[in-house]
Amino acid sequence: MDLGIDGRVALVIGGGRGIGYAVCNDLAAAGCKVAIADINGDGAKESAGNLAAETSAETMGIGLDISSLESVKSGYDEVTKKFGAPEILIITAAIVDDKLFLESSIDDWKPMIDICLYGPMNVLSVALPSMVENKYGRVVCMATDSARVGQARLSYYAAAKAGVVALVKSVAQEVGSKGVNLNVVSPGATNTELRMAREEAMKAEMGEEKYARRVEKVLRMYPVRRIGEPEDIASITAFLVSERASWITGQVVSVNGGFVMP
Ligand SMILES: NC(=O)c1ccc[n+]([C@@H]2O[C@H](COP(=O)([O-])OP(=O)(O)OC[C@H]3O[C@@H](n4cnc5c(N)ncnc54)[C@H](O)[C@@H]3O)[C@@H](O)[C@H]2O)c1
Repeated sequence: MDLGIDGRVALVIGGGRGIGYAVCNDLAAAGCKVAIADINGDGAKESAGNLAAETSAETMGIGLDISSLESVKSGYDEVTKKFGAPEILIITAAIVDDKLFLESSIDDWKPMIDICLYGPMNVLSVALPSMVENKYGRVVCMATDSARVGQARLSYYAAAKAGVVALVKSVAQEVGSKGVNLNVVSPGATNTELRMAREEAMKAEMGEEKYARRVEKVLRMYPVRRIGEPEDIASITAFLVSERASWITGQVVSVNGGFVMP
């Protein structure tokens, strides 16, 4: 399927690995120039190099901390200088924290809100003006199904991501008439380093046998009986920023093997 985004400038924040990198792959395959921004600047550069080697796309990698407005501004300027203003924006940068709410404190909440909620606000405030001016922009923010239905031990992560859902829906109403569409992709459990680190910690805490029972129980909750892969999330994301999706804005699309059907 021709996505109609050949030659567009795409910026993927948190694209150094995981779901973000899988999105970069699809955007490169669709002919975009792909800028990968990540707090791990070396990882972003390495991923940009790999992507350029694997596809014929023009790529660049930069270090950027989404929680800092200054860092977002300077990263955005660097991309604009090399490729032109980003027309496609994907925000996947996030952290996760596995803790009961009553065992957490503001020291846990603050970095989560800074990265997962202020982060997207920082990026939208910097990137949207040129999209509005140019009357063209496509944005996808990554949330999580825990933001839609709640999840024990993920309360402040889920709260930050629920904020992103409300942010995207609200801003989509403000800029739709200016040619700018924003949507949310809401993944279920997906095999990335972020998830694997949490799983390893659980395995260490529970022991092999109890953990194996947990894995079976979790799989039974997924009607398609498997955990997601980054490519499952990337394909819908690339579709949502394509010309094929120009009448879709302000929507939340769960990609989760049927885990929840909100
Ligand atoms: N993997 C899952 O099971 C899952 C489930 C639901 C939602 N999600 C969401 O999908 C998105 C991608 O998750 P993933 O599993 O690929 O994670 P990941 O950890 O593999 O990738 C996230 C990337 O964000 C970067 N990052 C972290 N903090 C940053 C910061 N302050 N500034 C810039 N970059 C930063 C990391 O370095 C990393 O490269 C996230 O928004 C996550 O909340 C993932």
